[in-house]
Amino acid sequence: MKINNPELEKIAVKPEQYPQNNLSEIALAGRSNVGKSSLINSLVNRKNLARTSSKPGKTRTVNFYNIDDKFRLVDLPGYGYAAVSKSEKDKWAETIETYLSVRENLREVVLLVDIRHEPSEQDLMMYNWILDMGFSGYVIATKLDKIGKSRLQQHIKAVATKLGIEDRKKIIYYSSETKENRDYIYKFIENTILNY
Ligand code: GTP
Ligand code: MG
Repeated sequence: MKINNPELEKIAVKPEQYPQNNLSEIALAGRSNVGKSSLINSLVNRKNLARTSSKPGKTRTVNFYNIDDKFRLVDLPGYGYAAVSKSEKDKWAETIETYLSVRENLREVVLLVDIRHEPSEQDLMMYNWILDMGFSGYVIATKLDKIGKSRLQQHIKAVATKLGIEDRKKIIYYSSETKENRDYIYKFIENTILNY
C-alpha cells in the first residue's frame, strides 16, 4: 500500500463536527498509551502527524486522518487512564461511545492491546462490543519490540485467552518502532476498503 498524502482532516467531539461524506473509516480503540497514535504515524510514514506522548491521555478527541481521499484512519481517545477525574473519564468515554455508535462510515474497529500485558476488563468489554457490532475482531498487539522473541507465543496466548480469540491470525503483533508486520496491517486495510 502506497500512501502519498495523509492529512489530519478533522478534530471532533460531537457528530456535527465529523467529516461530512461517506469515505470508509477504520477506527483504532484501546487503552491510553497503548500506541494508537503511534500506529497511525508508522502506517503513514510520518513522525508527528498524530500527536503522541509517553504520558497517557494525549488524544482526547476523535481525530480523522484522511488517507489519499481513499479512506480514513480514526484515532480515538484512550480509556483506562487512572490519573484523571471521573468527569474527565466520563467525557472521553462519551466521545468514544458516540462515535462508535452513530458513525455510519465505520467499517472496522481494531482493538489495540499492549503485547506485554494481559488485556484489561475494559479491553474485554470493548472487544465484545466490537464483535457484537459485527466487526471482524482483529487485534493489534503493540510494542512488539519490547519483548524477546522467545516469549512471543506466551504473550499472544495470554491475549487470545483473555479476549476469547480462537483464530490466532486475528492477532497481529506489531511494533511502531521497527514496523515489523506492517504489511499485514496494510493488507487488512486493503481488504476492508475493497469490500465496500
Ligand atoms: P492516548 O492518546 O493517551 O490514548 O495514547 P495512544 O494509544 O495514542 O499512545 P501513543 O501513540 O501516544 O504512544 C504512547 C507511548 O508509547 C509513546 O511514548 C510511544 O512512543 C510509545 N509507543 C507506541 N508504540 C510503540 C511501539 O510499538 N514500541 C515502543 N517501544 N514504543 C511505542
Ligand atoms: Mg493517542
